Amino acid sequence: MTDLSAFIRGLPKAELHLHIEGSLEPELMFELARRNRVALPFKTVEEVRTAYAFSNLQDFLDIYYQGAQVLLTEEDFQDLAMAYFRRVAADGCRHVELFFDPQTHTDRGVPFQVAVDGLLAGMKAAEGAFGITSKLILCYLRHLDEDAAFATLKAAEPWLDRITGVGLDSSEVGHPPSKFARVFKASRERGLKLVAHAGEEGPPEYVWEALDILGVDRIDHGNRSLEDARLVERLAREGMTLTVCPLSNLKLCVVDDLKVHPLKRMLGLGLHATVNSDDPAYFGGYLGENWTASATAVGLTRDELVTLARNSFEGSFLGEAEKAQYLAAVDAYVAAN
Ligand code: ADE
Ligand code: ZN
Repeated sequence: MTDLSAFIRGLPKAELHLHIEGSLEPELMFELARRNRVALPFKTVEEVRTAYAFSNLQDFLDIYYQGAQVLLTEEDFQDLAMAYFRRVAADGCRHVELFFDPQTHTDRGVPFQVAVDGLLAGMKAAEGAFGITSKLILCYLRHLDEDAAFATLKAAEPWLDRITGVGLDSSEVGHPPSKFARVFKASRERGLKLVAHAGEEGPPEYVWEALDILGVDRIDHGNRSLEDARLVERLAREGMTLTVCPLSNLKLCVVDDLKVHPLKRMLGLGLHATVNSDDPAYFGGYLGENWTASATAVGLTRDELVTLARNSFEGSFLGEAEKAQYLAAVDAYVAAN
């Protein structure tokens, strides 16, 4: 176990599915609430952690949007990002492609600029402090309408040289990817990469729509793809990256037990799965814990761990030269350990 944890910690790896608002630890939530004079419906950190018992995605989202209300200034967003990067530096994370939900902030009067400039400052500081490279992905909230997503894309215009892509998150069932066909097309035309949460709680049809209607470059989660053999064959043939989140799946009851998590099965089917934390402050583990807990639960081999590390860089939006450097670092580590 210790050997496994140490091997995983040293293995160069990227995180491709991380909602930065989901890295808000209760301690920082209280500190920001005090700093910003925001009232919280909890008295103690312990009370907050006790409230983190979810039976589905919506249960979690309700409390996650509530927590985000303490984020008001650029400094708050920068502190949030730095706390996350400091934590994953200890897990041997080398590159992160982080999501943020601008509408969660603009809808309560926090300007787009405040969130994006704070996060970009945190990303820059983290590269200096920890050597972790990162890219920013703006997510459209799918429970809102497509006009609201278009307004977000418009607000983002001045920052499009510093935003790598757009994603689709929040309540999945009842909000299929096709609802956002036009705004994804407009996003693509602006040179942005495209990703979408699909097949977390929603059916395989949502994954088909993300591929065929949105034209995504990656699928976030994708678990329910396994219910459709033709879809599995398509994803494998195209080398489509799936950003899988084992501890999130456990906490949101997508799986009943980590031992039956489909990660190993996905690799066996030739799917380009990666391991990620989703919302680590809410789901009980950062990147390293997702790797060690799932490796232990489903019995990943050393070769499978190396494949997951390679998948994380190959599926990233890094340029070819940077990808090659990170992949060479994986190879060098494997040769030496
Ligand atoms: N927003 C934050 N985490 C999410 C998840 N796992 N699924 C959908 N939307 C989210
Ligand atoms: Zn997610």
